[in-house]
Amino acid sequence: MKAIEIRNKYLNFFEKHGHKIIPSSPLIPENDPSVLFNTAGMQPLVPYLLGQKHPSGTRLVDYQKCVRTNDIEDVGDNRHLTYFEMLGNWSLGDYFKDEAIKMSYEFLTKELEIPNEKISVTCFAGDEDCERDMVSYEAWKKVGIPDDRIYFFGKEDNWWIAGEEGPCGPDTEMFYDTGKEKCSPSCNPSCSCGKYVEIWNNVFMEFYKDKSGYSELSQKNVDTGLGLERMTMLLEGKETPFDTELFAPTMEKLVTLQKVDLIQSRRIVAEHLRSSIMIINDGGVPSNVDRGYVLRRLLRRMTRHLKKLGIDLNVLPEIIETSIEAIKELYPELEFNKKLIIKVIVDEKDKFMKTLQNGEKEFEKVVNRAKELGKDTIDSEAVFNLYETYGFPSEMTIELAKENGLKVNLEDFQKLFEEHQEKSRLGSNQKFKGGLASTGETETKYHTATHLLNAALKIVLGNHVHQKGSNITAERMRFDFSHPSKMTDEEKQKTEDLVNSWIKDGYDVYITEMTKEEALKSGAECMFVEKYPDIVTVYSIGDISKELCGGPHVKNTSELGHFKIKKEEASSSGVRRIKAILE
Ligand code: ALA
Repeated sequence: MKAIEIRNKYLNFFEKHGHKIIPSSPLIPENDPSVLFNTAGMQPLVPYLLGQKHPSGTRLVDYQKCVRTNDIEDVGDNRHLTYFEMLGNWSLGDYFKDEAIKMSYEFLTKELEIPNEKISVTCFAGDEDCERDMVSYEAWKKVGIPDDRIYFFGKEDNWWIAGEEGPCGPDTEMFYDTGKEKCSPSCNPSCSCGKYVEIWNNVFMEFYKDKSGYSELSQKNVDTGLGLERMTMLLEGKETPFDTELFAPTMEKLVTLQKVDLIQSRRIVAEHLRSSIMIINDGGVPSNVDRGYVLRRLLRRMTRHLKKLGIDLNVLPEIIETSIEAIKELYPELEFNKKLIIKVIVDEKDKFMKTLQNGEKEFEKVVNRAKELGKDTIDSEAVFNLYETYGFPSEMTIELAKENGLKVNLEDFQKLFEEHQEKSRLGSNQKFKGGLASTGETETKYHTATHLLNAALKIVLGNHVHQKGSNITAERMRFDFSHPSKMTDEEKQKTEDLVNSWIKDGYDVYITEMTKEEALKSGAECMFVEKYPDIVTVYSIGDISKELCGGPHVKNTSELGHFKIKKEEASSSGVRRIKAILE
């Protein structure tokens, strides 16, 4: 069964059971700068799991694009992926264990036609925080899973939480028996020998964990996650995800181009390329911090393995096209962004090749110095310098050092690296403030104009427009927003006209204080929800605009003068940038 069929069956099945289909959030969380990427379907839904009303109701279903980067280094084996798609269904205080398990079982056996005998399940064994999950056990028995295929495990296996704090609870997991021999008489679903493959997780989120421990949530939720790549692999009868339709075309293409036959390198190229494509498609750009650095690492590691395979780097665009082709049915928007994706990847590859040329000499020096001094470890300052000055990813230096029989003191390097990251973070916070904190008269006008522009763009281009960034100086305003294509002259004119008409009509600007929750409920816009304290100020301009904002603003829009768009250009994929002035 193809991946798209599995996804469609999933969405349709849960829709039939009263769930509303909601769209996947972008890979890059829209309102949460604290997380690099969405790592699970529940992440964009946290406020609703905590009790906020979701506009689509209490039963939801979606597919969510996810990136998990904690095990980049493991990619290349037969199962680790950095990008994956998670199918999920949610009950927000609606159904609970019984119904969730009944639906999961029906979906697996009726829709996907997985035989009952292939399914094993695990339940929470119970501890001082939460009782043994006999309800799930009974529910599994009722649908027909026999006792000898129901296992109980503790928190390490059957408890789910994203990170350290947040909504959480016991889970019940479903496993597919590949039919392989048991690796030992005690082999069971918690064993990683490959006999049992986890296919679906139902989390019963009824607790909240913080530093002081567990407390009960106001509602009992269900949060589930089914990995599309893994399910495709099993239903296509393949041994690894790399053998499925999602990767096979890229893997085959690499075979035709390679001079050296290295399966691990082919997997790394195919996997990192797909993740990079998806990240760029959702607005990612390579850089030296945070998300950008993850993307940079993926692309540089990919390039290094292309070189290992002896592949001419000039054919990279062809490989990218093949890779997009393989997943285009799942993500038709890739076709639209293809040119940009290719450009970002090729540019980064070019930069990296220059870096390598410059850094290789320096690297040799470092190696020689270590050898001369009779050391078996490379100085971590030198590793950091190779990273900072020459852009050598540390993992690459480590690999190259290894090839030269040398080690790297990772702890020392990590310390230096963290210090560097902290500095960059402070730098970017400073920048963030810079956009908002200058309070001259002209800047104040630009702040208000920013709100008007945001509102006008929504009317002219559509509701998909969201603010992605803003920067104000006494000379101009800059405004980044989500929109997939270049604005036409007509659209720009309409936007300008609207803003100017609001200026001319002289709307008062009101400021109100309320709780963040009330503000969001009232439909006030904001860029980063988490950036704001519990009590927020909301600025409203007539009924044109309502935004959480620290201000300052003018009292009446008539103070602004004449608004003019000077430039409209791409900022990153899916994000446009307007520069405008008030005359
Ligand atoms: N949030 C759960 C997971 O990621 C479903 O496994």
